[in-house]
Amino acid sequence: MSQLDEQQEEHDGGTETAPVELQSLGDWEKSHDCNSLGRSQVDAQVRLMGWVQRRRDHGGLIFADLRDREGITQVVFDPQHSASAHDRAHALRSEYVIAVSGKVRLRPEGMTNPKLVTGEIEVIVDELRILNTSKTPPFQIEDDVDVSESIRLRYRYLDLRRPKMFRNLLLRHRTAQISRSYLNKMGFLEVETPVLTKSTPEGARDYLVPSRVNPGKFYALPQSPQIFKQLLMVAGFDRYYQIVKCFRDEDLRADRQPEFTQLDIEMSFIREENIYQLIEGWISHLYRELFDIELAVPFPRMPYAEATEKYGTDRPDTRFGLCLTDVTDVVAHSEFRVFKQAVERGGIVKALRVPGGSSLSRKDLDDHIEFVKVFGAQGMAWIKIQPDGWQSPITKFLQEGVRTELADRLAVETGDVVLFVADQGKVVHDSLANLRVRLGQQMGLIDQGSHRFVWITHFPLLEWDHEEKRFVSVHHPFTAPTEEDLALLDEHPERVRSRAYDLVLNGTEIGGGSIRIHRQDVQERVFKALGISPGEAREKFGFLLDALQHGAPPHGGIAFGLDRLVMLLSGSASIRDVIAFPKTQKATCLMSGAPSEPELRQLLELCVKVEAERRS
Ligand code: AMO
Ligand code: AMP
Repeated sequence: MSQLDEQQEEHDGGTETAPVELQSLGDWEKSHDCNSLGRSQVDAQVRLMGWVQRRRDHGGLIFADLRDREGITQVVFDPQHSASAHDRAHALRSEYVIAVSGKVRLRPEGMTNPKLVTGEIEVIVDELRILNTSKTPPFQIEDDVDVSESIRLRYRYLDLRRPKMFRNLLLRHRTAQISRSYLNKMGFLEVETPVLTKSTPEGARDYLVPSRVNPGKFYALPQSPQIFKQLLMVAGFDRYYQIVKCFRDEDLRADRQPEFTQLDIEMSFIREENIYQLIEGWISHLYRELFDIELAVPFPRMPYAEATEKYGTDRPDTRFGLCLTDVTDVVAHSEFRVFKQAVERGGIVKALRVPGGSSLSRKDLDDHIEFVKVFGAQGMAWIKIQPDGWQSPITKFLQEGVRTELADRLAVETGDVVLFVADQGKVVHDSLANLRVRLGQQMGLIDQGSHRFVWITHFPLLEWDHEEKRFVSVHHPFTAPTEEDLALLDEHPERVRSRAYDLVLNGTEIGGGSIRIHRQDVQERVFKALGISPGEAREKFGFLLDALQHGAPPHGGIAFGLDRLVMLLSGSASIRDVIAFPKTQKATCLMSGAPSEPELRQLLELCVKVEAERRS
């Protein structure tokens, strides 16, 4: 489905139907789920309950597909068998809630449905109880229904009746259960941490909650339980985990929600290796239990510098090649103005060699050029390696020596196209990294069935924020610098590498963590490098700094985005498809209407004044 449409599409939710006499459930109990009957139950007396998927009248007989969360069973109303049930069945419409009592029988020859688990049988109904009616649903309750996502979200309880949505949430449930039991076995304790708390710096804005009893003061909802899990290590809990809601007010995308769930982990007396082993054990266990797939462990590791160099991103999709090549030094002395100027301004030039790409048409190339412009590129130069020589708008600006060196560096072959972007490093990397994935998809280079995990290691500790004009943490301020780089912290903070790691699956970051700072003096030096004054550090994180002075053990951990993980495990395109009641890209809930305006009385109680112009 395309981008979620924010507009509330007008829909009245269907028309009312004529009044129907309802029966009560009485003392009936369900004997079977709607996917569980087959040949071996023939002649059994059963009671099924669920929703009418479809009703069909065939002369004297009425058929209904009865659906519950597990599947569908065909039930038959025959006037010869039970006139009263048949009479009532005339009233049935889609999504009516019914209970039937009847006998299992084989379907007649030629009427079996091999697509249904229960396709060999049907239930001939003795008694029908209509428990509730339903308006005509705004969309068919079936898997590949063509309806806008905003309608699905507005009627989420109907959307969740679709088998695919149920399967996704079942997979989510199983993922959580298997993970819990794995961590329990490994000696981890699940501990809950507060939701009304102080700001945790994970790089997003906070959701704030006003405190009625402390007028003018606000709690922040946790962006993660980071500080609390570290305090549990100081408390000696040794191994903690939690499946926990986190809240981040940030720009939303297909893999981001304002509230999402982490599988959060922390351990004491460990180093990176212990985390890698624990997580590889957990994920391989998960794949074995869920899919009977044996993953190859250990997962490969790639330093951040290599990921950026080869893939232009710290989230490389390693299911296919098409790596980037730096050609800055080669083209710096070319006659091509665009390359020369980019290098003079401190930029870089990188190339993507696409085997077989010389068959791309001019239109295809123009389309890719438009695509990279979204990521800030001014343009993209190309060279086709044809049997009769190089074909390109820029070859005339490349001297013989430059050409030879380029051919060498890129190991070009006839039939390739080479694509170049020249700009500041970030623009070049963003453009080519995204183009690489696009080409991989378009050219069918990605094996959809493969699961390529890779650990990204040795991130820089800090990066320069041009807007704030100060260093900010690449992971978070509690991440330890590598021991060998610690000495650089005060003089060359930009050169310090951290003990952070991310786990990437097929190009999506599913988890990230680090070995933490457990010494107060180091923590203070990092705050200083971040431009956080001692006063500010005390005000914001005083409780952590105090705790670090009370016997904090060496510790580290990691957190996984449960929604993202399940999105990938279920092959869904968006995390909204694995969250029961998700929010839109504008952080609204189309079903409940949240967020909504509070009553004036509530605002007065909370001592909160809302600016009139913002409310209008
Ligand atoms: P980080 O910020 O990397 O680390 O988050 C960990 C994982 O959480 C998931 N995630 C999200 N999922 C959905 N919507 C979002 N808005 C969102 N933001 C993050 C990602 C990510 O990899 N406290 C540290 C962990 C640690 O150091 O142990 C933390 O929160 O899958
Ligand atoms: P121009 O001189 O702007 O017409 O550009 C000549 C060629 O260089 C065109 O093919 C452009 O797409 C390409 N080009 C322009 N800007 C860049 C850039 N920043 N990096 C790579 N190629 C570029």
